[in-house]
Amino acid sequence: MKKLEDYVASIPDFPEEGIIFRDVTTILEDPDGLSLAVDGVRKMLEGVEYDSVIGPESRGFIFGVPVAYAEHKGFIPVRKKGKLPREVLSMDYALEYGTATIEIHKDSIKPGQKIVIIDDLIATGGTIEAIIKLVEELGGEIVKICFIMELAGLEGREKLKDYDVESLIVYE
Ligand code: PRP
Ligand code: ADE
Repeated sequence: MKKLEDYVASIPDFPEEGIIFRDVTTILEDPDGLSLAVDGVRKMLEGVEYDSVIGPESRGFIFGVPVAYAEHKGFIPVRKKGKLPREVLSMDYALEYGTATIEIHKDSIKPGQKIVIIDDLIATGGTIEAIIKLVEELGGEIVKICFIMELAGLEGREKLKDYDVESLIVYE
């Protein structure tokens, strides 16, 4: 029986020299890989009380939506700059390679709303730190943060010390 990590392709020097890219497409392409990932996150959420799932474009959508659907929760998209049509809150952040700006609709979170964040991977933690700032500025409460993969060497978890964080696969 294959484990989830057996479905991950690791590509050296992509998108630039020195980066080992942990590719989720090989999880997605296999029905057993996809089930292991989605069901693994659902298991992390057993006993957690929450209202909505949030995930960042684009790989956060891939895993966040099926979990939200299966648990009958709504999904709130966080998108790259300039894509959301209503009034937004924006946040700049740094990535393992490059910088970016993400946005959320201001009216998508109500004060006190309990939020679970789901993403495919934590590297530096910059993306999730930016999402936390957006959610908290709108009055939401982060109750859990779930990743498929964690690149522990980049110490992204340091930025998330105050939160309940879990990853299905940890790369040292
Ligand atoms: C990747 C990945 C995470 C983020 C992790 O997304 O899906 O969201 O980087 O990096 P960090 O912990 O250093 O912030 P990316 O911004 O490359 O966008 P994509 O999902 O559209 O490929
Ligand atoms: N996003 C940021 N760093 C990454 C990596 N090493 N592999 C896959 N996605 C990433």
